[in-house]
Amino acid sequence: MTPTTQPQLIDRFGRQVTYVRMSITDRCDFRCVYCMDEEMTFMPREQLLTLEEIAYLLRAFCELGVEKVRITGGEPLVRRNVDWLFQHIGDLKQTTALKELNVTTNGSQLTKYSDAMVAAGVDRVNISLDSLKADRFRDLTRTGDLATVLAGIEAAKKAGFKRLKLNAVIMKGRNDDEIIDLAQFALDNEMDISYIEEMPLGHVSHERKESFYSSDDVLAELNKVFDLQPSISKTGGPSRYYQVANSKNKIGFISPHSHNFCDTCNRVRVTTEGRLLLCLGQEHSVDLRAVIRSHPGDIDRLKQAIIDSMVIKPKGHDFDLNVQPVLFRHMSVTGG
Ligand code: GTP
Ligand code: 5AD
Ligand code: SF4
Repeated sequence: MTPTTQPQLIDRFGRQVTYVRMSITDRCDFRCVYCMDEEMTFMPREQLLTLEEIAYLLRAFCELGVEKVRITGGEPLVRRNVDWLFQHIGDLKQTTALKELNVTTNGSQLTKYSDAMVAAGVDRVNISLDSLKADRFRDLTRTGDLATVLAGIEAAKKAGFKRLKLNAVIMKGRNDDEIIDLAQFALDNEMDISYIEEMPLGHVSHERKESFYSSDDVLAELNKVFDLQPSISKTGGPSRYYQVANSKNKIGFISPHSHNFCDTCNRVRVTTEGRLLLCLGQEHSVDLRAVIRSHPGDIDRLKQAIIDSMVIKPKGHDFDLNVQPVLFRHMSVTGG
């Protein structure tokens, strides 16, 4: 079938939205210290979009020209029947503008799901890994088991995704001594890695300002060991990449504090309860669940609501580490 698309998602600043990040659960089997508070209250299940509603919503986006969908959470792979969802979204590549289906995960369920994900058409997977030391991994994730995640990474490698990337949030005094080891691990396993600056989303149990570690400092550390050349490579995400000499792989930096990338923002996100957020760092949003539930099956109305939302997409975030927290919403609700 010929893809039917009407690319119409253009905001007031001329930026075209081609990328949707969809959070399918705010729950997670980990409690990473930069992401969650020790005690978290999760959304009541009836408030969540059903998997059918998520598939329907993503169809609307992809018929409006969205080319890339990333499924996030919380931890997306703890949602029951998530493989059904992958299958349905994967099928949108035949009928819509969708080119890439990606997933961001903590890796704890990859042993179980990798093969089914590849079969359903999941292209790329980003896996969080902030430490290679079992005790520290447990401290940073509060509940996570390093060996399980490493086994998940092995399973993902065998399953044959198009690309695997590691994500490491570097925190001063917590894991900054592992910058080199994490890069080496990624390269040894033929994966890319992105270093992420911690963002002030939601209340957590430490002062964000104290743990801040800039991408420039990470790069300075890496430059002592690796030969890195700035790369023009873009994945459609916010990472700035460097090519590692004599390697197929790249090292990226997601630096919302030190290198703002809002000018070229091409994405929106949908929260677990169907709230379309026009920016990770702002509250501008539209309740798409209300549109879906008040007009079931009326996909044109849903598409119109999405098109109309473009006028409220803000110019950018204004994260400020001096104000704590900037946003009360945790990353696990937004999906990163
Ligand atoms: P690709 O786009 O496929 O390269 O993936 P990604 O690295 O953007 O996605 P991933 O889900 O792995 O997220 C990595 C980090 O980037 C997370 O901490 C996200 O919160 C952050 N991120 C993604 N998009 C944005 C954005 O628009 N603004 C900010 N500030 N951070 C973002
Ligand atoms: N700041 C930066 N990155 C975060 N992540 C979760 N919370 C934060 C935060 N407050 C990262 C996770 C995962 C990605 C989706 O977002 O480590 O890799
Ligand atoms: Fe879970 Fe990811 Fe948040 Fe860690 S960062 S608690 S793995 S959602």
